[in-house]
Amino acid sequence: MKQTDNSKPSLSDWGFETLVVRSAQFPDPSTGAITTPIFQTATYVLEEIGKDKGFQYTRTNNPTRTVLEQLLASLEGSKYGLVFSTGMAATDAVFHALLKQGDHVVVCDDAYGGIYRLFSQNLTKYGVEFTYVDTRNPDNVKNAIQSNTRLIWLESPTNPLLKVSDIKAIAEIVQEENQRRSHTIPEPNAIKNLEELEELEAKETRILTVVDSTFMTPVFFRPLELGVDIVLHSLTKYLSGHNQLVGGALIIRDDPSRWYYKPRPKKDELGRLIKTPEGSLETEIVNTVYEDLKFIQNAVGAAMSPFDAWLTILGIKTLSLRMKKHEENAKEIVAFLETLQEKGIVKKIYYPGLPSHENHHIAKQQMSGFGGMISFELNADYKTTVRFMNSVRLWSLAESLGAVESMITHPASMTHVAVPREIRLERGITDGLIRLSVGIENPKDLIEDLRQAMQQAGLNVS
Ligand SMILES: Cc1ncc(COP(=O)(O)O)c(C=O)c1O
Repeated sequence: MKQTDNSKPSLSDWGFETLVVRSAQFPDPSTGAITTPIFQTATYVLEEIGKDKGFQYTRTNNPTRTVLEQLLASLEGSKYGLVFSTGMAATDAVFHALLKQGDHVVVCDDAYGGIYRLFSQNLTKYGVEFTYVDTRNPDNVKNAIQSNTRLIWLESPTNPLLKVSDIKAIAEIVQEENQRRSHTIPEPNAIKNLEELEELEAKETRILTVVDSTFMTPVFFRPLELGVDIVLHSLTKYLSGHNQLVGGALIIRDDPSRWYYKPRPKKDELGRLIKTPEGSLETEIVNTVYEDLKFIQNAVGAAMSPFDAWLTILGIKTLSLRMKKHEENAKEIVAFLETLQEKGIVKKIYYPGLPSHENHHIAKQQMSGFGGMISFELNADYKTTVRFMNSVRLWSLAESLGAVESMITHPASMTHVAVPREIRLERGITDGLIRLSVGIENPKDLIEDLRQAMQQAGLNVS
């Protein structure tokens, strides 16, 4: 089957394993090269004034990056994707593009530490207000919504405690709230000038929902299908998959029934506004969330480089295979940790695939797998935990996650060091908490390494 119309998500036509390898990719028309070329260029030559081939300057757009954006969009069941230099740059773009002074955001209380750092140490300076709640209970989200709330920021499962939120229930709460909010939608072609349009935009009060889906990837979880508006990925993790780059992505819902499909003025090839014969602005209905995010991608310039986009496209080709192996290995390691729990060496295991996981029933409902991330709490003090961490040989003691190499992290001293200790402890990120990103090595080797490191730390595992 030939993929002819790239503007349509082809999830319904092709199986996911086909999409990861083939979606949005075509043989290069000039050479037949099967692999998407790296268009390593800063600019593009115009044929004549006002006539280009769709590309002008790589900060604005780049053919390699476009392929990755369309590929990611199709994996999430949309046609709107944007990629950024990091996951944090993608996060920041959401705030730059969609919020203003005085707006309020409801945030899940176990979000990645860097997200907390950006929100609490920077974005509050611009007059954006944040309320952190345990989003596992959808009522907590409902109760935290204020009249100035414009965004719900969710992560599921969370980093590092793998808390799972009921995304469909939260999306429904937001939809209901949005229906209650008054709004004026400008009639197409009835707007006299830009100021009039901007005035109407400023009155907009409806809420968007974002899910950071980095831990699951679209292999196991597709939040747009559950009703949210934006999905965020740190491409640094599973999607690129080989610890070879940093990157981020935003995928925006493709659904003309949503409130943010609105008229925007049309421009001619020289960027001039077009007027109707009656003198009002000629408009077209666009996905304004995508347009506003794309504007920031270009205006700020934190877009992904063509080379990193190319590496990510290659990484995604094996995403389905890798995620299955990550999960298979994770299950074996969880079984090993359970034996240690019986011996009292491990206090708690956090893995959404465990029937004992607090949100297992929701995880099972909304995800098709449970992934390769595990957290567990050693029944040991800080010193013993650090000795254990320093004794691993095969596991890499590293900040990141989601690559083929297995990595072990101590959130309290690494990823979540920006979160004040009392807040950390309140949220369950104790000194003994350890996060595992299970790679694709032989699981027996991984288990043996954990065992020997525990022995080195003086824990009686044998
Ligand atoms: C869940 C999650 N979201 C976002 C980020 C930020 O991504 P990046 O490091 O690519 O900026 C991370 C990084 O660890 C993460 O774990």
